[in-house]
Amino acid sequence: MKTLRTQVAIIGAGPSGMLLGQLLAKQGIANVVLERVSATHVLKRIRAGILETGMATLMREAGVSERMDAEGLVHDGFAIAHNGHATRIDLKELTHGRTVLCYGQVEISRDLFEARAAAALPTYFEATDVALHEVTGNSPHVTFLHNGEAHTLHCDYIAGCDGFHGVSRQTIPLRLRTEHERVYPFGWLGILSDTPPVSHELIYCRSQRGFALASMRSHSRSRYYIDVALTDKVEQWSDDAFWTELKKRLPAEAAASLITGASIEKSIAPLRSFICEPMQYGRLFLVGDAAHIVPPTGAKGLNLAASDVSTLYRILTRVYHDKDYACTALYSAIALRRVWHGERFSWWMTKLLHNLDENSMHDHSGDSGRRFTESELTYLLGSVAGRTLIAEQYVGLPYEEIG
Ligand code: APR
Ligand code: PHB
Repeated sequence: MKTLRTQVAIIGAGPSGMLLGQLLAKQGIANVVLERVSATHVLKRIRAGILETGMATLMREAGVSERMDAEGLVHDGFAIAHNGHATRIDLKELTHGRTVLCYGQVEISRDLFEARAAAALPTYFEATDVALHEVTGNSPHVTFLHNGEAHTLHCDYIAGCDGFHGVSRQTIPLRLRTEHERVYPFGWLGILSDTPPVSHELIYCRSQRGFALASMRSHSRSRYYIDVALTDKVEQWSDDAFWTELKKRLPAEAAASLITGASIEKSIAPLRSFICEPMQYGRLFLVGDAAHIVPPTGAKGLNLAASDVSTLYRILTRVYHDKDYACTALYSAIALRRVWHGERFSWWMTKLLHNLDENSMHDHSGDSGRRFTESELTYLLGSVAGRTLIAEQYVGLPYEEIG
């Protein structure tokens, strides 16, 4: 049995855990990261890559932004297409100069892994049987197995950054947590291909045939999605079938100029809204996907994780620099206020851009639910106020100060 000691134990080496670890280390706060799988495995996960300013700023504060700033694509706007007609949401103009940065999550993870390795910060990959103990007492600790050897990691605080399926959230007794969950009756079938993107900005499409999204990773790598039935299997979708369906959903002009090619990755992801309240229990803080999941419409997953990281990092900095132990009690309420806004925006964008059963739930006859949504979208896209509403939330609401 090996006994270890640190200030902050971080469970999970996803973007939340790795970014938090880097930021804390910059402030001289010792931390150890425990990750269930290997680094190679973490780097295989493909997820959205639209960064709000808050996330990009944290990467800079953590000192890991060199490649992001050199290779990330600044997006001043994006388009929403409705029945073949595209309307541009001019983020920069509608939000007094704010933009988003297009930089893949795999790249973010790679940058964070390299920085952590270069600084020789302690990280245990393939750590199994991770269990949290005495999180409401004064001597919390985490036990785990590494290379077959039992370890106990003593710490002051635990950051549960272990995603939706992790152990941290389960440590909070059921009677003390409320889980709000909504599942959607479709999934997103995504393709990654080494083809130039159809447009230099993202295009979100609502069409009679369903949703589509044209996104990218770089000038030469594209990411496209269509929504499919949850019962569909990825094997049922040949590349040809995907491209044919995508073209039918994109505006005609984009469909005509779309360059197709072999997929280098293809998968179906279910859509879910999930929020766990509270986000803390004693000396345990939940961060990112461990506490909340959004449907990908609006690309808020990583950005909500970033605001949690920012809040926790500022609180812990205060604890260690100013001995302000009481401020830890503020974490959950501050994090959740922003999480709920992001969750609502993601649900609302999903509802606007997909044919969602809940819109038609009360129809006795006809299709008023769908028609209301189409009318709402037409109205929003045709109005400066409507486009501003979308733009302000897409670039991200401001982070709250620690009171
Ligand atoms: N012990 C240790 N590590 C674990 C355990 C466990 N019991 N369970 C899960 N993990 C690890 C996972 O293997 C994963 O690497 O925790 C990590 C959680 O990472 P993510 O799921 O990526 O969650 P998070 O870092 O909060 O990501 C936030 O990035 O990955 C996206 O969709 C995500 O957009 C969201 C954002
Ligand atoms: C992506 O590029 O994978 C992506 C972009 C925007 C989204 C969702 C996914 O809203």
